[in-house]
Amino acid sequence: MKIVVVGSGGREHALAYVLAKEHEVVVAPGNSALGRYFETSGKDPLGIDADLYVIGPEKPLVEGLADRLRERSRVVFGPSKDGARLEGSKAFLKDVLVAAKVPTAKHRSFSDLSEALSYVESMKPPYVIKTDGLAEGKGVLVTDNLAEAKEDIVAKMTGRSFHGAGRTVVVEEGLFGRELSLFALCDGKNAVALPAATDYKRLLDGNEGPNTGGMGAYAPLAWASDLLQEEILDTLVRPTLKELSRRGIQYRGVLYAGVIVTESGPKIIEFNVRFGDPETQVVLPRVTEGLGDLLFQCAAGEISTEPKVSPTSFLTVVLSARGYPLSTETGAEIHGLDRAMSKDGTRVFFAGTSYDPMRRGFFVSGGRVMAVTGEGDTLLEARSRAYDAISEITFEGMHFRRDIGD
Ligand code: AMP
Ligand code: GLY
Repeated sequence: MKIVVVGSGGREHALAYVLAKEHEVVVAPGNSALGRYFETSGKDPLGIDADLYVIGPEKPLVEGLADRLRERSRVVFGPSKDGARLEGSKAFLKDVLVAAKVPTAKHRSFSDLSEALSYVESMKPPYVIKTDGLAEGKGVLVTDNLAEAKEDIVAKMTGRSFHGAGRTVVVEEGLFGRELSLFALCDGKNAVALPAATDYKRLLDGNEGPNTGGMGAYAPLAWASDLLQEEILDTLVRPTLKELSRRGIQYRGVLYAGVIVTESGPKIIEFNVRFGDPETQVVLPRVTEGLGDLLFQCAAGEISTEPKVSPTSFLTVVLSARGYPLSTETGAEIHGLDRAMSKDGTRVFFAGTSYDPMRRGFFVSGGRVMAVTGEGDTLLEARSRAYDAISEITFEGMHFRRDIGD
């Protein structure tokens, strides 16, 4: 098959890496660092003929790229604009979850500032404040401090942070429990799960600092049994697909379930309409064969195979640029990549990395620069390989967490 992977980040690099083992892959647009290893194309994906289109990021999905491709009879893994509203609007997500009777945090949406402020005053900590629109995983504040919660509501609703995306806020009950990320591959009616991973959302060691898109991840999770994953499909994913279908939305793509396993069972924190980044970098390399076929089946509306997953462990650590996630400083030259990439059992997935052929070097071009991934028979081995590879890499302002997998 010829497969177009739409996007340019670490997630798309991981998708391309796994799919290219069995298929011809073009990454659109990709980036100059990816272009060293894969065919890339700056064309509109509509202008590239392929058997399957896999759309990586949420933005083109929310903007309706899947619809435009399907109008021209292309086979697409990724939801329509309607389905993508699950991630594009937290208020829509909550509406669907409530209608589908899917367990989630109690919540209310506000577009009136004074109502939001008086509601949060009536809640018990921890306070959870979210932007309604897309904010690349950075729009959530969880705090025990009421003044901070109120300040955040004001900043979001007046457009001081997240521009338009924050004008409607969702205030919700704080949930307690272990978190996991589960990728459910959906064909509109049914879903199969890839094994769960865990993600580190905060910038600093010890889960301190601001929320980011994700600073590290590992898989498998010893505590997430097959039974728990099947329960998540049954109680959280399938009812959501059914409710979407009732609304006329055939959801064909990945539903990435952000789940908290509470004392009273698994609950949805959020559904994303795309693979997680950096969880993809540890989940997909575990799929030993048939990923392309499975994505094709989802896109065509009928899943007929199960994913084949190896027991190997993967752990990834994100190297970020100075200033991320607030304001990112780009341009620094990256040293030591060749040495890091030539080590056994390690893989570097590029995100905010560019390659300059004139200067023959790699440079920082975005906030999350790359995800350095180790593989091993145990998580410990995967972990030491990832950190060992990182010890070879340097750039001005480089930051990473030292406690991934601790
Ligand atoms: P989100 O972008 O919605 O995934 O939220 C980012 C992070 O905030 C999650 O991974 C959780 O750690 C935390 N979070 C979000 N909602 C809640 C909640 N209702 N209770 C506790 N923690 C939450
Ligand atoms: N790693 C979290 C996300 O992709 O949103």
